[in-house]
Amino acid sequence: MSPVICLLEGDGIGREVIPAARRVLEVLCPDLSFVQAEAGWETFQREGTALPERTVDAVAHADATLFGAVSSPLGPAEGYRSPIVDLRRRFDLYANLRPVASQPVADSRTGIDMLIVRENSEGLYSGIERRDAERAVTERVITRSGSERIVRRAMDLAMERRQHVTVVHKANVLRATCGLFREAALAVAQEYPRVRVDELLVDAAAMRLITAPESFDVLVTTNLFGDILSDEAVALVGGLGLAPSGNIGESVAVFEPVHGSAPDIAGKGIANPVAAFGAAAMLLAHIGRPHDASVLRTAMARVLESGARTPDLGGDATTDEVTEATLGAMEELI
Ligand code: NAI
Ligand code: MG
Repeated sequence: MSPVICLLEGDGIGREVIPAARRVLEVLCPDLSFVQAEAGWETFQREGTALPERTVDAVAHADATLFGAVSSPLGPAEGYRSPIVDLRRRFDLYANLRPVASQPVADSRTGIDMLIVRENSEGLYSGIERRDAERAVTERVITRSGSERIVRRAMDLAMERRQHVTVVHKANVLRATCGLFREAALAVAQEYPRVRVDELLVDAAAMRLITAPESFDVLVTTNLFGDILSDEAVALVGGLGLAPSGNIGESVAVFEPVHGSAPDIAGKGIANPVAAFGAAAMLLAHIGRPHDASVLRTAMARVLESGARTPDLGGDATTDEVTEATLGAMEELI
């Protein structure tokens, strides 16, 4: 049966980079079928919800979803909830994956090829908070089952890579929460004798990302630490215009560029589509098309090397020109 891909363009440059990614996917995998659905700030303004039920249905029924970016309201907007956060909750998309690899651009360091696996459903983002005028408390919820499933995911992914996992925590201070995460991680590690497992305190990990990023293969960590470290890591390899990510649950997976809706350049036709192409490549690997994913990645690298780059990378190419160049490079590879 032909896989169904749900496309959520969202707002701003999401409307430019997702159609570009669709063109690439259509050429690479002519058997895919696409459904388009709405989400985001403009949808909220029109319908009073940023994630209509029909969109939730479309995501639930697709084999995977490609999400662009959404704008957040600048002022108070009663009833507004971020659709990506909403999707993570509704479908329990507990694993956030961020591949970070050297790119053939001047701003990228060389020798880097890592995957950051961030727990995406608990930790300090539990939303359980209380405050009065003088004191505020956020509960950091860590469960054994939540820790085990994210570490198992990281181990499985490491088996397809260089079989090295670094568990990042702060168990020397956060003895209860990080202590449980660490304990669960080391127990799961016993199930994977072929994976080399080490651990790092989060502050040391932040430093090592700058001093020796090539020493990492897979990093696995809790929600807040992963959020911070994964943005830090993206800055090592060329920045937002190139960075893809995935939100994975048991039955639903949503892939997206890391960047937002970029209102400063939206509508100008100069958004860098490479991050969205990278998200499309992750999607292809996820739906069991690793060969197509690698063709796309090779084509993306060739295009960057050829110098067809958008202004964020110092070039003068448009979104369309980079897309055409990528289609051309793919045709040579297929
Ligand atoms: P942003 O990622 O949209 O833009 C930051 C800077 O990077 C801007 O100068 C932008 O022009 C540039 N940039 C980003 N992606 C680019 C691309 N593909 N090609 C070329 N340049 C690119 O972050 P910002 O400005 O903080 O947020 C803008 C809006 O996006 C806000 O409403 C924010 O809430 C939302 N946002 C949404 C996200 C999502 O949907 N997952 C993630 C981050 C922000
Ligand atoms: Mg972030």
